[in-house]
Amino acid sequence: MSGRLLNKVAVITGSSSGLGRAISLRYAREGAKVGGEAIFAKTDVGIAGEVEALVKTAAKEYGRLDILVNNAGVGLEALRPLVMCHQTDEDLWDTTMRINSKSVFLGCKYAIAQMLTQAPHPSGDRGWIINISSIMAMIGGSHNPSYCASKGAVSSLTRQVALDYAPDKIHVNAICPGYTRTAIFKDTTEAGMPVEELERKHPLNGPGKPEDIAKMAVVLASDDASWVTGVSWPVDGGYTAR
Ligand SMILES: NC(=O)c1ccc[n+]([C@@H]2O[C@H](COP(=O)([O-])OP(=O)(O)OC[C@H]3O[C@@H](n4cnc5c(N)ncnc54)[C@H](O)[C@@H]3O)[C@@H](O)[C@H]2O)c1
Repeated sequence: MSGRLLNKVAVITGSSSGLGRAISLRYAREGAKVGGEAIFAKTDVGIAGEVEALVKTAAKEYGRLDILVNNAGVGLEALRPLVMCHQTDEDLWDTTMRINSKSVFLGCKYAIAQMLTQAPHPSGDRGWIINISSIMAMIGGSHNPSYCASKGAVSSLTRQVALDYAPDKIHVNAICPGYTRTAIFKDTTEAGMPVEELERKHPLNGPGKPEDIAKMAVVLASDDASWVTGVSWPVDGGYTAR
């Protein structure tokens, strides 16, 4: 590894499984303080006080916060019989929006407040925020209205926050993964999405691996992204190219 994140302090939400776990391991190998040197802070990302405490814990433990990856999320519709908008429970909608969208607002809010108080990184940048959105922010999926809406909000907020904090040299970008082999993927295929169809829809190598997303999360938190902010970057084996 090249140490592209050497000594950067990172908070990664939802890091106990799937993409968050892969991002944490990769960040640690690139020199960030999350892995070999790491702490776990139990947090519900949909509760303001808990997200604020998470950021405070990182800053207290390591003295600053350089990178936030807003990764935690749910795909509740994949766990249900196929439902369309007129059959969607209000509770399911509210829970999805709280965990997938409000959480990203809260993460940005408290991380940026911390980043603004600290000396810039030697590169002159004050911070890097990476929001895990989805290809469902770019296209309509079937039978997942709340998930699509929640990820649309993530990509839209990413653009908005990127503009407001560009003068402060805080990068705010999103990754839009295609179908990637994690617990959410398992739920989706078990709920009836045939794996062969997913192979066809991702023309380059079929559905992704968590490491495919983690590699791009490194780029967006590194100096390689020195002139990048406000993008929603599809990492999807070509799913959205057609
Ligand atoms: N796997 C895919 O195909 C795919 C595609 C596009 C986007 N995504 C997004 O990637 C992110 C990670 O998902 P994954 O595929 O790794 O699934 P996953 O289920 O393995 O991971 C989700 C993580 O979020 C955590 N989480 C859920 N609710 C939480 C809450 N209220 N507070 C704190 N943590 C909470 C879980 O504990 C878990 O660690 C999600 O935002 C998901 O929407 C996944």
